[in-house]
Amino acid sequence: MFNDAERILISEADLHKIVSKLGAEITDDYKDKNLLLVSVLKGAVVFMTDLMREIKIPCSIDFMATSSYEGAKSTGVVKIIKDLDEDITGKDVLIVEDILDSGRTLSYITSILLKRNPASLKICTLLDKPAARVVETVQPDYTGATVEDEFVIGYGLDYNEKYRNLPYIAILKKEIYQNSK
Ligand code: IMP
Ligand code: MG
Repeated sequence: MFNDAERILISEADLHKIVSKLGAEITDDYKDKNLLLVSVLKGAVVFMTDLMREIKIPCSIDFMATSSYEGAKSTGVVKIIKDLDEDITGKDVLIVEDILDSGRTLSYITSILLKRNPASLKICTLLDKPAARVVETVQPDYTGATVEDEFVIGYGLDYNEKYRNLPYIAILKKEIYQNSK
């Protein structure tokens, strides 16, 4: 599994620093608000569980699941597989995502959630891959790190459901996803 990584992009220690900083910013910005963290399954789960522990104000959490990816290439089609349990009316919703790539997933999710009248709706993404953006209107409010247009794995991010348990973010060797297409 570890041989499939070309190189480590963000180490475990650096991830911890990045997530602590985001948590501190969110703590500051959402004082006296009704914060609900909405995480997009499954990729953002590792980030979500670390981030929520760095947020030092009361908040609740909820999950939704979408699908758009097969292998390393976006199909361009986004659909909801699991919706939220909670009513978000009047809540300050912060979407917690693993990576903002083409922007299709977040554009779809934000358009759906906005119709439910949250008090506010913002996006926190661990990674931003601006070079891959197709939907330019989607902009993150909080970004952990910006990455080049390469396929990354680990810390929740997968390739065909593999590598999510790596404690760091790495670049997947090209031959692994090119051979399987
Ligand atoms: P978007 O809709 O193209 O912005 O894609 C968002 C989703 O695609 C993310 O939540 C990830 O699950 C997945 N994704 C995009 N780029 C990568 C990558 O480099 N590695 C792993 N998953 C990715
Ligand atoms: Mg995802």
